[in-house]
Amino acid sequence: MKVLVLGGGQIARAVGATAPSEHQTIARARSELDIVDAGAVMRTVAEIKPDWVVNAAAYTAVDLAEDQAAQAYAVNDAAVASMVQAAAQQGCRLVHLSTDFVFDGNSNRAYLTTDQTGPLSVYGASKLGGEHKVLELCCAPPGYMPPWARISC
Ligand SMILES: NC(=O)c1ccc[n+]([C@@H]2O[C@H](COP(=O)([O-])OP(=O)(O)OC[C@H]3O[C@@H](n4cnc5c(N)ncnc54)[C@H](OP(=O)(O)O)[C@@H]3O)[C@@H](O)[C@H]2O)c1
Repeated sequence: MKVLVLGGGQIARAVGATAPSEHQTIARARSELDIVDAGAVMRTVAEIKPDWVVNAAAYTAVDLAEDQAAQAYAVNDAAVASMVQAAAQQGCRLVHLSTDFVFDGNSNRAYLTTDQTGPLSVYGASKLGGEHKVLELCCAPPGYMPPWARISC
C-alpha cells in the first residue's frame, strides 16, 4: 500500500513513524508541496499514484488565524477541495482530519461526529469548511463535480 502524507507536523510525523513496514509512506512537507497550489496537488497525486492520501497539512495557529483568516481558509478549506478532486481523479482514498474546534465546546460529554457543529473561531470555521468540501464531493452522485472542484493542472 502506498500512502502519501501531506504536511510535516505532529500528525504527519506520527503517521510516518508508526506506519507498518509493509506500507510505503511518502511524505510531502510544505517545503515540497504547498497544498494551496491546486495544480501542484493534482500533479503530485497523479505522479505518485498513492492508494491513500493522508491530509495532515493544516493552518493550525488558532489565535493567529483570527487576524489571518484568508490564509486559514486557503489551507483548511479551499485547498481541501483540490485534494478531494485529486484523490477522486486518481481513484485513491483520502483521510481528512477534523478537530474539536468545529464544535462550540458547550457539551458536557465527548462529541460525536454526528453532533451539531458550531465553531467559535476562524480556525474552527475554516476547518469545518474543509470538512464540507470532503462531504459534498464524497456524498455526490457518480460523475458529479461541484464548481469549486473544477481545477485544471
Ligand atoms: N495534533 C492534535 O492533537 C490534533 C487535534 C485535533 C485535530 N488535529 C488535526 O490534525 C491535522 C494535523 O495537525 P497537526 O497537529 O499535525 O498540526 P501541525 O503540527 O501544526 O502541522 C501542520 C502541518 O501543516 C503544514 N502546512 C501548513 N500550511 C501548509 C500548506 N499550505 N501546504 C502544506 N503544508 C502546510 C505545516 O507546515 P509548516 O510547519 O511549514 O507551517 C505543518 O507541517 C490538522 O487538520 C488538525 O486540525 C490535530
